[in-house]
Amino acid sequence: MYALITGASSGIGREIAVQLAEKKTNLILVARRIDRLNELKETLTIKYGIDVVVKQFDISKQENCHALHEEVKSYRPELVINNAGFGRVGPFDQIPLEDEINMLELNVLSLHTLTKLFIGSMEKGVILNVASMAAFLPTPLLATYAASKAYVLSFSRAIDYEQRKEKTGIRVLALCPGPVRTEFGIVAKASKLSLPGMEADRCARIAIKGITRKKPKIIPGFSMKVLQFILRFIPTSVILAISYKVQNKRK
Ligand SMILES: NC(=O)c1ccc[n+]([C@@H]2O[C@H](COP(=O)([O-])OP(=O)(O)OC[C@H]3O[C@@H](n4cnc5c(N)ncnc54)[C@H](OP(=O)(O)O)[C@@H]3O)[C@@H](O)[C@H]2O)c1
Repeated sequence: MYALITGASSGIGREIAVQLAEKKTNLILVARRIDRLNELKETLTIKYGIDVVVKQFDISKQENCHALHEEVKSYRPELVINNAGFGRVGPFDQIPLEDEINMLELNVLSLHTLTKLFIGSMEKGVILNVASMAAFLPTPLLATYAASKAYVLSFSRAIDYEQRKEKTGIRVLALCPGPVRTEFGIVAKASKLSLPGMEADRCARIAIKGITRKKPKIIPGFSMKVLQFILRFIPTSVILAISYKVQNKRK
């Protein structure tokens, strides 16, 4: 069985790759930094004797999503993890438009396209789309990112429902982590995490458990589960004020 992971060169994607390799799953690893993917491939093939295929693609470009799908569909992956994504912290009027467009191309459009292509070619299996806790709340100073992840969550939940109703054998799950210690903060130009973060290996372990149990919405960590529950009862005006304060600390 092959699992495809986008954004496997770092953070959550890399940790999921390592833990799936421990379970003897063959891997297709995708990212732009090919040197990191090759290093990981060498480690995992030697340690676990699995097959690891690496693919260097900038999947924020639509044509690369199509090329990636063409190149890997013969492996018939039964697990596709749309994990690659990034954020940008700061006031909306100060973040360059091209950075935000690129974020939307990666977080929304490439995830949408890859979900469409793999749902069309998979016979059975799971697509895990990586959203965020930010998907549950409008987030000042992280506005575009939070909105992109709200798309991922809403889209995945709806498609998963269709797939269940139609008994296709395919599930589309959403992973919604709170802060995780990865390179995310550096890429987002944040000085620190908004809240104390969990380690990426723990997040990956919970994600894999959620995949096994086919949970439509996977929220790693007890405190984040509680937060998501409480958010339902708090007026949006209060959520906006609190999240502005929290994000302002990491600008
Ligand atoms: N860390 C958090 O606090 C947190 C919380 C909630 C959700 N998330 C989500 O979790 C996912 C993984 O993030 P992370 O925290 O693990 O961050 P990370 O360490 O920065 O990893 C991001 C991964 O995405 C890849 N990537 C970025 N742009 C790409 C592109 N254009 N084409 C192909 N690959 C690309 C990067 O590889 P290359 O640079 O080599 O291409 C890297 O492997 C993201 O969707 C993020 O939004 C993170």
